[in-house]
Order: sequence, then structure tokens, then C-alpha cells
Amino acid sequence: MHRIIKEKLPRHIAVIMDGNGRWAKKNTLKRVLGHEKGADSVRTVVKTCRELGVQYLTLFAFSIENWQRPKSEIRALTLLLEKYLRTELQEMKDNGIRLITIGDSGRLPKTVRDALFRAIEETSENSGMILNLALSYGGRDEIVSAVKRVLKDSKSRDIDENTITKEFFSSYLYTANIPDPDLLIRTGEEHRLSNFLLWQLTYTELYFTDVLWPEFSRDDLIEAIMDYQRRERRFGLISDQLSKE
Ligand code: FPP
Repeated sequence: MHRIIKEKLPRHIAVIMDGNGRWAKKNTLKRVLGHEKGADSVRTVVKTCRELGVQYLTLFAFSIENWQRPKSEIRALTLLLEKYLRTELQEMKDNGIRLITIGDSGRLPKTVRDALFRAIEETSENSGMILNLALSYGGRDEIVSAVKRVLKDSKSRDIDENTITKEFFSSYLYTANIPDPDLLIRTGEEHRLSNFLLWQLTYTELYFTDVLWPEFSRDDLIEAIMDYQRRERRFGLISDQLSKE
């Protein structure tokens, strides 16, 4: 049993899944086995979030910087992703999970893109939970690409400096229509954002844990959510203002 307060559940949880390589090293295994074990943690976290009633789960599965890793590791990661998409599709359908993606997915190998777009299409009517995979994603790249699209649109639409509000700009990001994360979890000892959701994390509660991603369990997730529920989110206001609302 857990002591999660249903009314204070984070609507959107984002996760930087770090530490697969170090977990493999610690267990004298090849890095790819760390990623494979990491895929099991993905299954656990998706399942638990769905059970708890979390509405949006965003997972940082492949960063734009990850393209610089050795070719063999990129291949292993993309194959693993393709396998995950194929084997989990039925599970997603059975549990009302809708898959979406953010990032430059056009750079992924064709076989992965095919599996990805099939899963996106076949789950598009689901409304139980949105599973958002950040693939070939970079926060600064997202902002630059949004600026470029605003500029492009300004040639055919009436866009001037007064049009450009925070809401307007947000609608050009990959995450248009997705609420900002309430809670960001980063596993694997490091305390940084690594170019993840730079615009969207402005008021997000940050939770760092030393647990390496392949060892991140259901209980670890519940602990992170309970920690979040003990915090007071003020959004720049003072405590008294919040209680009057
Ligand atoms: C960080 O570990 C993790 C990644 C680069 C990718 C995340 C991928 C998975 C969890 C597996 C597959 C994903 C899905 C959605 C099925 P690292 O290699 O940076 O670890 P290290 O910092 O210890 O070397």
C-alpha cells in the first residue's frame, strides 16, 4: 500500500532516465544490457503511472546529443526502441494509453519510424494516459525550430510583435496542447537538465535520485510522488496568497 493523495497527484510527470551505462558497468555487463534492463523500468513506470491515474508521462528516451554516441550503441538503442514499440503496442491498447512523441523523429531509422507511427496511429483514440516519448529531442533545438516556424508563418499570417505572447509561442513547441510537467524525476546521480524541456520546466518540481534507471522501481516512483506531495508550489506567490484561492 502507498500513501499517495489522489487529489494531489501530479498531472504530468517527466523523467530523465539516466544511469543505464553505469548500472551495466557496476554489474560487469555490456552497456546495451543496461539499456535492456532500462526498458524493463520503462514498463514498470508506465504501468504504475497508469494505475495511479497520472494523465501525462514524458520519458526522455533519446536526446539529440545521443546521436554522437558510438554507432553500435545508437543501433542497440534504436533496435530496443523498435522492439519496445512493437511488443508494448497491445499493452498500450488494452490500458487506454495513447502514445505521442516529441523531437526530431525524422532522424530515426525507417524501421523505428514505422513502428512509432503505427503505435501513434493505433492508440490515437485512447484517453486513459498520454505516454510521450522524447526521441531525438533537444530543448534548445525545440525552441530554435519553433522560432523558425513562427518566422515562416509570419509570411502568410498576420504575425507581429504583439502577436507573440508566451501562449502563442508555446503553441509552436512540440508540446503544444500538453500541460507543463508538475514533477521532473532524474535518476542516476546527476543534478542537471541536459537540454530537456527547457521552456516547459519553468515551475516544475525537480526530484533527483541516486538510483540508477535500471533499478528504479515502483516504490521509487511512489517515493518521488510522495516527496512532490509534501512540497508547496507557489509559482512566485507567497503562502498566504495560495491558501486564499
Ligand atoms: C541513459 O543511460 C539512458 C539513455 C541514453 C536512453 C534511455 C533508454 C532507455 C531507458 C531504454 C529504452 C527506452 C525505451 C523507451 C524502451 P546512459 O547510457 O546515459 O547511462 P550512463 O550515464 O550511466 O552511461
